[in-house]
Amino acid sequence: MTEIVSLCKRRGYVFQSSEIYGGLKSTYDFGPLGVELKRNIADCWWSHIVHARDDVVGLDASIMMHPKVWQASGHIAGFFDPLVDCLNCKQRFRADKAPRLASGTEVSYRSKGDKLQTAKVGPCGYVCPYCQAPTLSEERRFNLMFQTKIGALDPLAELLHRIEADDQLTIDDLRKNLAKLKQTNTIYLRPETAQAMFVQFANILQTSGKKIPFGIAQIGKSFRNEIVTEHFIFRSCEFEQMELEYFIVPDSWQQQLDYWKELRLKWYLTFANNSSDFRLRRHQQDELAHYAQDCYDIEYHFPWGWDELEGVASRGDYDLKCHQQASGTKLTYFDHQQGKRYTPYVIEPSAGLTRAVLAFLLDAYREERGVDHKGQQKKRFFLQLHPRFAPYKAAVLPLVKDEAQIRLATEITGNLKKNNLHVCYDENQSVGKRYAKHDEIGTPFCITIDNQSLVDGTVTYRQRDTTEQQRVNHNELSSMVTASLA
Ligand code: GAP
Repeated sequence: MTEIVSLCKRRGYVFQSSEIYGGLKSTYDFGPLGVELKRNIADCWWSHIVHARDDVVGLDASIMMHPKVWQASGHIAGFFDPLVDCLNCKQRFRADKAPRLASGTEVSYRSKGDKLQTAKVGPCGYVCPYCQAPTLSEERRFNLMFQTKIGALDPLAELLHRIEADDQLTIDDLRKNLAKLKQTNTIYLRPETAQAMFVQFANILQTSGKKIPFGIAQIGKSFRNEIVTEHFIFRSCEFEQMELEYFIVPDSWQQQLDYWKELRLKWYLTFANNSSDFRLRRHQQDELAHYAQDCYDIEYHFPWGWDELEGVASRGDYDLKCHQQASGTKLTYFDHQQGKRYTPYVIEPSAGLTRAVLAFLLDAYREERGVDHKGQQKKRFFLQLHPRFAPYKAAVLPLVKDEAQIRLATEITGNLKKNNLHVCYDENQSVGKRYAKHDEIGTPFCITIDNQSLVDGTVTYRQRDTTEQQRVNHNELSSMVTASLA
C-alpha cells in the first residue's frame, strides 16, 4: 500500500487535493495518469454493461435532486452510521466497524500518560479500534448525506441579520425560523447514483421502448460524509460509482441475482492478474440493507484484508414503490406477455469506480529481482495493468535525439494516434531510464526507433511484463497494439 501511494504521487496517478494548502481530509485529485486509468475502467464497465447488451440503457442524472427523493428513499430517516467517541484517546469511530468482544471481558489499554489500565467491555460489546479502551460515549446516529442550500439568497445570513437588527426575537421564534429555513432550502448531494434511475424509470421506459427485463446504468460522483475515511482512495467523502438498476419480473429475482453476481465477478477477473484475490461473499441476514432481500459483495483482498468492491443486491420493489407512493406517479409495468400490471423487482450491481482504481493498481504492482548488464543485482518495478486499463497503450522512443529518428518516431506516434491509441512520445533521458519509467507507470509496450529503423523501417517492440524485445516493421504496430486490447 505504501509503495502504491508513493508511486501514485511520484508518477502522477493520484495527488492529495488542495495539497499546497495542506490538503483537505480524504479528498484526492486524479492526475494525468490516474484520470486515464479511471476513464479506462469506467469505459470498460460501460461497454460491458451498456454497449455489449441490448437490454441496458444509460443515464447521466444531476447530482442535486429534489429533497423529496431522499425522503421517499429512506435516506433522510435511515442513512445513518453509529458514531462513538472514545473517552480515552478522543478518537471518533463507527460502532459497527469496532473490534467486538463479549460484554464483561476485561481488557488492557494505555491511558493518557501511557499508564496501563484495565476495564471491562460494556453492554455495547466493542472497544475503541484505536486504543482498545472500553470507555466510550453513547452511540449517536450520524446522517451521512452532505447538505447544501439552493437559491441565490443566503437564508442563514438573512436570519442572522434579523437577529442583529431585532433583539426581541425569542428562542421560540428562532427555533421556528431555523426549522423553516432547513425545510425550504436544504438539498443534499446524492449519496448514491441509484435513486435517479428509479425516479426516471417511467420516462426511460416510455422513451426507450424497452421491455422487462431491462436496465438503466449510470456512472457518476456520489458523496458521503464518512465518519472514518481510510486507506487512501478506498473510503473517501467524494467518490465515483458505476451502478446498474436492472428491472425484472418479480419471481425471477433469485435467478437474476445469481446471473448478475457471477457476471460481475467474471468482469473483474477478465482484467485481474491474481484471480484468487477476488471473491464473492454473501451477506449475513443482519448485514442486509433495509431494502435488500439478498446481497453478495464482490471483495478484493486488500493489504488490510478482504473488503468490498461492489455489492450485487436484490432490492425487490422497495424503491419503485416508495417513489410511487411519495410522488403519486405510476411506476409500474404492464406485461403484455403475462397480461398483468406489476411493480418490477430490481437487481442492483453497484460498484465503486474509485475503489476499482485502487484494487487494480494493487493487483498490478510487481517487484522483480534481476541482474543488470553489468552483473549487478537490481530491482525492477512494473505495473502489470491490463492494456485496456493502461493510461498509455505504448510509448514511442527515439533511441537518441537525432533529427531523422525524431521525425520517424513522431510519424509513428501520429499513426498510432490516428488509430485511436493513446500513446506517449518520449525522447528525454537514456533509453534504459525511459523503459524503467514506462514499466513503472504500466505502459504495456515500448517502441524504440534507432538507425536501423531509418534504413529498413523496423523498430524494437519491447513488452513490459517480460522485457522481451522483437524487431517488427513499423507498419505492423497499430494492429499489434490494438490486438492486445481485445
Ligand atoms: N446503491 C447502492 C449503494 O450505494 P453501497 O454498498 O453503499 O451501495 C456501493 O455502495 C459501492 O460504492 C461500494 O461497494 C463501494 O465500492 C463504493 N463506495 C461506497 N462508499 C464509498 C466511499 N465512501 N468511498 C469510496 N467508495 C465507496
